[in-house]
Amino acid sequence: MDLTQRPEAPAGERDFARRALCPGSFDPVTNGHLDIINRAARLYDELFVAVFVNPSKPGLFDLDERMEMLRDVCAHLPNVTVSSFQGLTVDFCRTHDVGVIVKGVRAVSDFDYELQMAQMNYGLAGVETFFLPTNPLYSFLSSSLVKDVAKWGGDISGHVPQQVVARLMARLRDA
Ligand code: PNS
Repeated sequence: MDLTQRPEAPAGERDFARRALCPGSFDPVTNGHLDIINRAARLYDELFVAVFVNPSKPGLFDLDERMEMLRDVCAHLPNVTVSSFQGLTVDFCRTHDVGVIVKGVRAVSDFDYELQMAQMNYGLAGVETFFLPTNPLYSFLSSSLVKDVAKWGGDISGHVPQQVVARLMARLRDA
């Protein structure tokens, strides 16, 4: 990849619909994710929310469960489509004619890696990344932290949508 050259067909010069992608593991979706999804859905005509299938990281919820929860909590957003993908995020973008990836940034510590991914994705396919600063209410929140707190009996009701609280409780009860 020659980064001194602009990628072959820069996303900004292609005739993309105003379509964006929020990719992630969403294991499970948190109020922080939902805040970013809500805000991105206001900024774009169409928004894909896509669960990355990572075979080496099965997670607590399987793909169908994660997508079900996402569909449930995004039901009020008519321009949001919940989907999934395996492989590169930019390949999902190419297939669905998406020119922009939207990511939430919770803290400076997120930024290092997010910047690397954004630069790589631009270099690979000319796909842009827009960063939305996370609402400070959610800046400490992650799916992993929520799962850990729930596992040890802590109250997670302020951190994930109500439907997800119920699912998490049921899953941990069954475990
Ligand atoms: O919710 P997460 O786990 O922080 O999401 C990370 C995700 C899925 C956005 C990232 O790992 C990703 O884009 N994976 C897809 C594979 C890929 O494209 N890797 C190269 C990134 S530059």
